[in-house]
Amino acid sequence: MSGTVEVLGVSKHFAAHRAVDDISFVVESGEFFSLLGPSGCGKSTTLRMLSGFEAPDCGSIRIAGQDMTDVPPYRRPTNIVFQRWALFPHMTAEANIAFGLEAERLPKPEIRRRVGAALELVGLTDLGRRKPAQLSGGQMQRVALARALVKRPKVLLLDEPLSALDLKLRHQMQIELKRIQQETGTTFIFVTHDQGEALAMSDQVAVMNAGRIEQIASPQTLYDAPATRFVASFIGHANLLPVSVVACEGETARVAFAGQEFACIVGEAPQGREGLLVLRFELVRIAGPGAALAASIKGTVRQAIFAGSTVQYVVRLNAGDIEMTVEQPYGATGPLIAQGEAVTLGWNAGDGRLFPA
Ligand SMILES: Nc1ncnc2c1ncn2[C@@H]1O[C@H](COP(=O)(O)OP(=O)(O)OP(=O)(O)O)[C@@H](O)[C@H]1O
Ligand SMILES: [Mg+2]
Repeated sequence: MSGTVEVLGVSKHFAAHRAVDDISFVVESGEFFSLLGPSGCGKSTTLRMLSGFEAPDCGSIRIAGQDMTDVPPYRRPTNIVFQRWALFPHMTAEANIAFGLEAERLPKPEIRRRVGAALELVGLTDLGRRKPAQLSGGQMQRVALARALVKRPKVLLLDEPLSALDLKLRHQMQIELKRIQQETGTTFIFVTHDQGEALAMSDQVAVMNAGRIEQIASPQTLYDAPATRFVASFIGHANLLPVSVVACEGETARVAFAGQEFACIVGEAPQGREGLLVLRFELVRIAGPGAALAASIKGTVRQAIFAGSTVQYVVRLNAGDIEMTVEQPYGATGPLIAQGEAVTLGWNAGDGRLFPA
């Protein structure tokens, strides 16, 4: 129960705008849980309701088994870390971290011990005497984390804490954050619009869209078995091929594109004859002669994009006004295929997922 978070039927309106629309989820104690979704989908509003800075219109929030309705932010077993880390500029890293403990009037030796442990946890033992202006962005973010963790919250809420850092530092901090979360056993609820970040760190991810939760699952399940078209196209990079539905039974379907019929998996059954086949870039192949694939669709290479370990080919299909992107490990089909070359694209029946158009 210690760091369990239970959200049941929570909504929040701003005037007529439904920022959060009837969401429910449970985060187990010690879990790394992410809220992932595009800008404006209600992630920060959800976090602010958990921290108590915003009150839900309806529904209930329980943390550590206790109803939070009448509990003000400073009494909640939560702490929050923001994108802009808002350290006190005139105070050293140590003093910034100690601030919350001093407000609690803890004995000096205990404060010193806990600040030292927090600095060690975030790998800043030698920099405690520096002021924020003498620290890098990544170091400042570590101080902000230490400041939040030193109060030993049961639940740490993080609102896009890494988005102000450059890419390389962000990757380093992702690994660090996960380590810190595991070492402290704190429940982390992490808000991000960056799917790579959510997939890399989380035990469970809730994908949000326009105030609602589309799917809650492990990163692998979101990737392998997206439940909705939104999730399928938001996670990873995917082609959306318009197809007509020939037959749809249970988990498999037969669909047709450009006069060719092939099998696929049903993500969400379309009501009518029109469907969208979601095909991840990396699951589409450039088919060699005699390849036994479910579909074989002809087209012409429009662009070859070399990205080091992978190559992406943008292929204009002969049928329809459609381009598809294929991503392959560099070297998978020998030398790069030139612009203007005719190719045949294919994929396995289990790699295409059907959704309503
Ligand atoms: N105090 C407020 N008054 C009016 N509208 C608000 C307020 N706070 C948020 N909103 C609106 O509610 C919606 C959800 O906002 P929220 O900040 O939760 O989005 P978000 O998912 O965190 O987006 P971002 O990724 O851009 O931070 C947005 O359309 C936003 O404009
Ligand atoms: Mg936000």
